[in-house]
This record gives sequence, structure tokens and C-alpha cells, in this order.
Amino acid sequence: MATKTSEFEFPIKSVKTSTILVADNISKTYRLGRVDVPVLKGASLEVKEGEWIAVLGSSGSGKSTLLHLLGDLDTADAKGGKVSFNGQSLAEMSRKERDQYRNQSIGFVFQFYHLLPELNVIDNGLLPSFVKASMNPSWFRLARWVGAILVGLTASTLYVSLLSAPIWASLDISQLLWWKERLFVIVILLLVALGSGVIAAGLGTFLCLEVQSLLFRKSASYKEMHKHAVQLLESFGLGHRLKHKPSELSGGERQRVAIARALVNNPKVLLADEPTGNLDEKTGAEILDLIAKQHSNGLTIVMVTHDPAIAIRADRVVHLHDGRIVEK
Ligand SMILES: Nc1ncnc2c1ncn2[C@@H]1O[C@H](COP(=O)(O)OP(=O)(O)O)[C@@H](O)[C@H]1O
Ligand SMILES: [Mg+2]
Repeated sequence: MATKTSEFEFPIKSVKTSTILVADNISKTYRLGRVDVPVLKGASLEVKEGEWIAVLGSSGSGKSTLLHLLGDLDTADAKGGKVSFNGQSLAEMSRKERDQYRNQSIGFVFQFYHLLPELNVIDNGLLPSFVKASMNPSWFRLARWVGAILVGLTASTLYVSLLSAPIWASLDISQLLWWKERLFVIVILLLVALGSGVIAAGLGTFLCLEVQSLLFRKSASYKEMHKHAVQLLESFGLGHRLKHKPSELSGGERQRVAIARALVNNPKVLLADEPTGNLDEKTGAEILDLIAKQHSNGLTIVMVTHDPAIAIRADRVVHLHDGRIVEK
């Protein structure tokens, strides 16, 4: 149970007793050429709902590796233990369930932000919502395929009837003595028809995607997710930066966008990999305040860091040492 009050005056919500995320005896070995590099050697961690855990470890101890495994961004060795979320092993989930886990159950924050440079702040923040929307079966997706097939078929038919007709007319096939020559001409014409059909189908898909994108941006669900993302970004002090590209932002602002992106689908758990590792002390403290505020609202957090002064902000600090989690 967390009883302490943060020195930054954020009330720490009490930790519930239910376990939400478990790493059970995890092993992870990287292979470098012919050399095996064991990084995790039976690491176990149990995360309670509402808890803020800091995993403290020196550089190269395997903190990012552990977090990637918790977030299903990487997998453990064969027979190298398991990660479970709400009692269900990730390995036993279907591919779609795992996609949903990454997209909606957890949010991931990286040390180096990993924002998409060509997207502005709002679109970076919205990205997980776009992914979520695209996961749901919709008539849009069906329409895209039907549209692509129709355009492809129409183009092939047009090609065969309009373009190849004059070729056929000018071709006195009776002059081709050999059946092999006749077959050759027919096969070439059919191949060209097929090729143009495939190209047209590609163009059709592209056009349908563009139309889909246009319609999507006009839809009520897009407006709703856009409003939610804007509110989140504004609450993170980014209201005046919504149309800016990441390259136009400070490090602290970029990390705020990255945290908003991680939270936009209301995940249960935030996985933060040295979230202040690239920031100066003051900006880092502001980011930690922001994370603490999310925690006080009930968010479960697993944060890895090499810095004891940062780890102390969490409810519980565990150590990653020699590939294992040690409680001190
Ligand atoms: N993809 C990889 N291939 C090979 N070795 C890796 C890979 N990722 C990490 N490592 C190695 O595993 C060890 C732990 O890395 P990492 O989890 O990034 O540590 P930390 O985040 O604690 O600094 C390091 O020695 C690192 O060089
Ligand atoms: Mg790391």
C-alpha cells in the first residue's frame, strides 16, 4: 500500500490489491554473431493495479529489455518464462488480442520520444487512436477492397476491349503459321491485360484509401478522438504547439507529446523507459510531476531508470541486478 504523499503534493492513490501485470521468471538472451549474451536470467516482477514501480539498474543491466518484454515489443527466450496481463499470458493471446494489448492496455514512453517527424503534435498524439480505429472491422475496409477490385477489373476490361481491339484488328492472325506464334501473341496480350489490371487495382486501392481517409476525418468518431487528444495535449501544456512538428519542440515538449500519445487510448499501465533520461533536471522534474499526476488519477506505472533520485518518486523501487529483480 502506498501511504506516502509526494513532496510535489500530488495525492498518491492507494494501490489496489489485484495484480495487473506479471513477469514470471523471464529469460532473454541476445545472440551477437555466434556469441550468446544473456541479459535477463529469470527476472520476476509483480505489478499491482494502481502501483508505481521503479526498476532501478545500471546502464546495460537489461532495463529496456525488460520493459520491451512487458510491453510485448519483444519476446522472451523459448521456455524463458512468461508475461501475463490481468491473469492472461501474452503468449496465449491471439495476434489480435496482442495488438489490442499493445494499443489499448499499455502505453509506452521511450527515452528518445520516438515521435514521427513528419507528423505534427496532434497527429502524433492521435496515432494510437488511428490504430485503434483501424483495428475495428468496418465497412470502410470492405469498401477499400471492393473498390480496388472493381477499379482493377474495369481497367482490365477497358484495356482488353479498347486497347487490344485495334491490335487484334491489325493482326492478321492467319498469317501466323505456327500455333506457337499464335499462342505467344495471345499470352502476351493477356499478360499485359493482367498487368494493367494489377496496376489499376493498386491505383484503385490508393484512391479508396484517400477517400476513406477523407471520409474518416469527417466522421463523428474522428471528431471525438480528435477532441479527446486535443484536451489531453492541452492539459499537458501543449495547446499552443498542436500544429508544430517535433523538430520545432523542446525535449520536454516532445516527451509531453510522447506521454500524451501513450495515454490517448486510456491504457491501464504506463511503461516508461528512462522518461527523463534525455532531459535537464528541471524539465525532467516537470515530466515526473506529470507522470505523478497520472498516477494519482489511478494509472499503474512501471518506470525504469538508472537514477536513484528519480526512482524515489515511485511507490516501490526494485533493482535489476545480474538479470534478476531484487527487492531491497
Ligand atoms: N537487440 C540487441 N541485440 C544485441 N544485444 C542487445 C540488444 N539490445 C540490447 N542488447 C544488449 O543487452 C544488454 C542490455 O541492454 P538494455 O536492455 O538496453 O539495457 P539498459 O536499458 O539497462 O541500459 C546490453 O548489454 C545491450 O548491449
Ligand atoms: Mg535502456
